[in-house]
Amino acid sequence: MKVSAIIPAAGSGQRFGEVKQFKLLAGRPLLFHALKPFLQSDYIDEVVVVVPQENVEFFHRDVVSMSAGKPVKVVAGGSHRQNSVKHGVNASDSDSTLVCIHDAARPFVTEDLIQNSISACENVDGAVVAIISKDTVKYSENGLVKETINREKIWLAQTPQTFNKQKLLLALDNAHKNQLTGTDESTLMEAMGYSIKLVDGHPNNFKITTQDDWMRAEAVAHQLTDSRSGRFKEVHDD
Ligand code: C5P
Repeated sequence: MKVSAIIPAAGSGQRFGEVKQFKLLAGRPLLFHALKPFLQSDYIDEVVVVVPQENVEFFHRDVVSMSAGKPVKVVAGGSHRQNSVKHGVNASDSDSTLVCIHDAARPFVTEDLIQNSISACENVDGAVVAIISKDTVKYSENGLVKETINREKIWLAQTPQTFNKQKLLLALDNAHKNQLTGTDESTLMEAMGYSIKLVDGHPNNFKITTQDDWMRAEAVAHQLTDSRSGRFKEVHDD
């Protein structure tokens, strides 16, 4: 079984106010933090990074220097996240049977989360890292509560999300034909009726969307550095 990691990093940072994937967090570009555990994981055979067209060349040079021999490709993204993911999947090795997709905007992913999402795919079509909702969830229309949803059944999806590659390609084609846009690839797989398993995620594996998230990320990076654990110590030491 061969696994390709796909790292979509071609967003324009509209909600953030600037392009954030190359902004420095704890001394290194945000994308570097998301990428490193994939380059280190024994479960990943190759890494495909999807960046804006104008960054392909310079980023290819950077990523090859940090890849430690693992095959790495850098391709240009598309107008929406799912187009960027499609470009990445199309560029992946023809031998790979699973693709493990991870947002560049989630810098605190770990090798354990990657491994768990891949291992969970044994008898299902895909697996999504997620955390259960701690808050009570309200469904609203026009600013008024319509319904309270049982939070024991509510999971907040993160990435990595790992899928059977051939089925994901069918799901992406179906989305294109039916003009379906998903905020993650699991949505497109679910629309096909494929079985998707949930795997425990981690609160630190949050996505940086706004400037507030960036401040939280700086605090978490600081905390991880102070506790002298994991790669944030290495980032500061090397
Ligand atoms: O927009 P969203 O927050 O869902 O973005 C999640 C990830 O998808 C980010 O890492 C972003 O860079 C990436 N993305 C992309 N191509 C786009 C839009 C978003 O690769 N056109």
